[in-house]
Amino acid sequence: MIEARGLVQTFHTGQGKNKKEVHAVKGVDLDVAEGEVVGFLGPNGAGKTTTLRMLVTLLRPTAGTARVAGYDVATEPVQVRRSIGYCSQVGSTFSGAFAGDEVVDHGMLYGMSRKDAVAKGQELFEKFQLEGLWRRMNKNMSGGQKRRLDIVMGLIHSPSLVFLDEPTTGLDPQARANLWEHISGLRANEGATVFLTTHYLDEADALADRIIIIDRGEIVASDTSDNLKASVSGDQVSLELSSDDQVATARDKLASISDDVRVDGRLVHGRVPRAGKAVPGLLRDLEASGVGLEGIEVIRPTLDDVFLTLTGRSLRDADEAAEPENVDAETAAPEGATR
Ligand SMILES: Nc1ncnc2c1ncn2[C@@H]1O[C@H](COP(=O)(O)OP(=O)(O)OP(=O)(O)O)[C@@H](O)[C@H]1O
Ligand SMILES: [Mg+2]
Repeated sequence: MIEARGLVQTFHTGQGKNKKEVHAVKGVDLDVAEGEVVGFLGPNGAGKTTTLRMLVTLLRPTAGTARVAGYDVATEPVQVRRSIGYCSQVGSTFSGAFAGDEVVDHGMLYGMSRKDAVAKGQELFEKFQLEGLWRRMNKNMSGGQKRRLDIVMGLIHSPSLVFLDEPTTGLDPQARANLWEHISGLRANEGATVFLTTHYLDEADALADRIIIIDRGEIVASDTSDNLKASVSGDQVSLELSSDDQVATARDKLASISDDVRVDGRLVHGRVPRAGKAVPGLLRDLEASGVGLEGIEVIRPTLDDVFLTLTGRSLRDADEAAEPENVDAETAAPEGATR
């Protein structure tokens, strides 16, 4: 459904002495299969929106190619636009129009009959808890209601490929959960392919079949949440022993399944890939060796741990990081960053 090769976007800002190049996207390859829900994750300024704008034909790539729904974004933009739904990060509804009219006009632009657009619009208003707002102007809606209206606009023509840019930003927990459910339903009931950007780790974790992480304009990882977590750090296993004299035995046993065992008093810690599989055997082994445990804790890594391992920074710190304009493109990656 999406196939991008070497996508580049370089912006030119300022004039004269202040002229600057912003390397927003630096050679991105993407492959998204039909029916996949992909979470495009990265900190502020990473290049998510810029990549999306190239894929939905709102921005011409500086270099590289992309085919979306079978069409080339540079030479067949109209066909691409007809095949997709798009909900931009900033929204696109006109503040002085009635919400229902906006939605129906939008559907009709995509070739729906007025009757079908009204029926589908009202169904989506109900799904997104916008009942009663059909004749309300956008400017008189709350932030969360506007956001939900943007999403309805992106879905009115039942596209089989949907791009959502930070769809849940500004939504309350109930509205977020509601949208998550709807996104899962789009795929399950209509076989839709969904490409959504987010910087909420839990959102990517809960929704996406696959997570693609972008940092400073480059893809740093692409895999299922489980595989990402397993590949970069493993699970943290901590054993609390009943007595000091068994610490050495426990350390040796844990070392048979972990490369980085640490001892802290009666606590023995280690990172274990896929602990769910390895720990039952470890427990049997410890018992057979007469090692008594007070407790055991297994902590799964978060996507933030994945990001930290890949980039040397936390996603949360990175979120507050300065824009990349002032950073030389070639030296932007932190030392030791892995691909
Ligand atoms: N039209 C533009 N002109 C100049 N620079 C731009 C333009 N659009 C985006 N940028 C810059 O490109 C970089 C990537 O921006 P982008 O909007 O793609 O980030 P993002 O990952 O979507 O971030 P966020 O999470 O904040 O939405 C940023 O440094 C941004 O300032
Ligand atoms: Mg963005």
